[in-house]
Amino acid sequence: MKKKLLTILFLCAGAIAWMQVNSCKKNDTKAGPTPVTFTTPPGFPVPQYSFTNNPLTQEGISLGRRLFYDGQLSKDGNFPCSSCHQQFAAFATFDHDLSHGFNNQFTTRNSPGIFNLAWHTELHWDGGINHIEVQPLAPITASNEMAEDIGTVINKLKADNKYPAQFKAAFGTEEVNSQRMLKALAQFMVTMVSANSKYDKVRNGQASFTNTEQSGYTIFQNKCAACHKEPLLTDLSYRNNGMDLHPFLLDNGRMRITNKKEDSLKFKVPSLRNVLLTFPYMHDGRFYSIDQVLNHYATGIISSPTLDPLLTNKIVLTTTERTQLKAFLTTLTDSVFIADKRFAQPQ
Ligand code: HEC
Ligand code: HEC
Repeated sequence: MKKKLLTILFLCAGAIAWMQVNSCKKNDTKAGPTPVTFTTPPGFPVPQYSFTNNPLTQEGISLGRRLFYDGQLSKDGNFPCSSCHQQFAAFATFDHDLSHGFNNQFTTRNSPGIFNLAWHTELHWDGGINHIEVQPLAPITASNEMAEDIGTVINKLKADNKYPAQFKAAFGTEEVNSQRMLKALAQFMVTMVSANSKYDKVRNGQASFTNTEQSGYTIFQNKCAACHKEPLLTDLSYRNNGMDLHPFLLDNGRMRITNKKEDSLKFKVPSLRNVLLTFPYMHDGRFYSIDQVLNHYATGIISSPTLDPLLTNKIVLTTTERTQLKAFLTTLTDSVFIADKRFAQPQ
């Protein structure tokens, strides 16, 4: 009897030991990072980002997230990407026309929100950057932004006690290099999808507009959607919406990149998703409120050879129409996105 009990105990201990060995083995021989599938929200176009060249993985995204929030990417440690791209402002800079960078200097443009970039083939207000995997080089090296050089950033990451292991988890070896850093940042940024606003829920049949919102939506479709095209709420083209040349910034927009006169004063049409959170508005942040923007479209448009033909007759709205349009714009706020822990500062 006693012997039988012992045998059972022995067998149980053996089984437990075997299970433990096996679970260790599983970790040791793990076949690399965990793939993540990008989900296109219903009704969205096909994303433009080439996921085959930089397959999304949990480890890659999590490395990118850590880099995005890490001051070590800047010269004095104070200017991580997230200092200008704040989650509660849909990753624009809250309440600043221009953002602060290194040595108390200002950026020369208003910081755009970061979301739905998997659909953008060109970045920045003038489209001067043609790939999200090189974009971070611009802010890291700009003397008025992060003011650091890439070699130094890489050395800092190599010396960090956590990064080499995270690079290994994401890319197979502990090698820390700029290409991997850029791929990880891109993985994080392309997963920042904002498609959970009331507007989206209405489109998907999960909610309905109030009468005021619905009237605002109709106005929007008639007066704004030709450029702020659904569902991204930008057609990603460059257009002149009638603002005059800024007296100090002297920013000619798209012409800086193409050197063509016909591109003078054209800027990338911004998405109006989360627009209530991303004030101030326009490439130079000159307007602080939606009302100022609507005043511009009604009475402020400056005529010029490159003014968009859709705006030659301005956009004049009655007081009621304004209220309705603003009600619609409110439905574009994605409170799920700005509270999404996957995009928040890692602990
Ligand atoms: C000092 C403020 C500042 C910092 C720091 C900063 N950015 Fe930006 N970001 C901006 C501004 C301003 C723009 C607009 C630039 C332009 O249009 O010329 C911008 C534009 C962008 C865009 C283009 C968005 C679009 O819709 O075209 C991306 C992507 C981006 N930043 C990512 C990053 C990443 C990644 C980092 C960190 C490596 C970073 N930014 C650091 C201010 C900043
Ligand atoms: C002809 C194309 C066009 C039309 C029509 C148009 N917009 Fe725009 N909109 C633009 C462009 C281009 C910009 C960016 C201009 C710049 O920064 O220099 C812009 C910027 C904005 C911004 C600033 C967003 C930000 O994040 O900075 C708001 C808000 C806006 N438009 C709202 C509207 C509304 C509301 C309507 C309809 C009443 C409308 N627009 C009609 C082209 C257009």
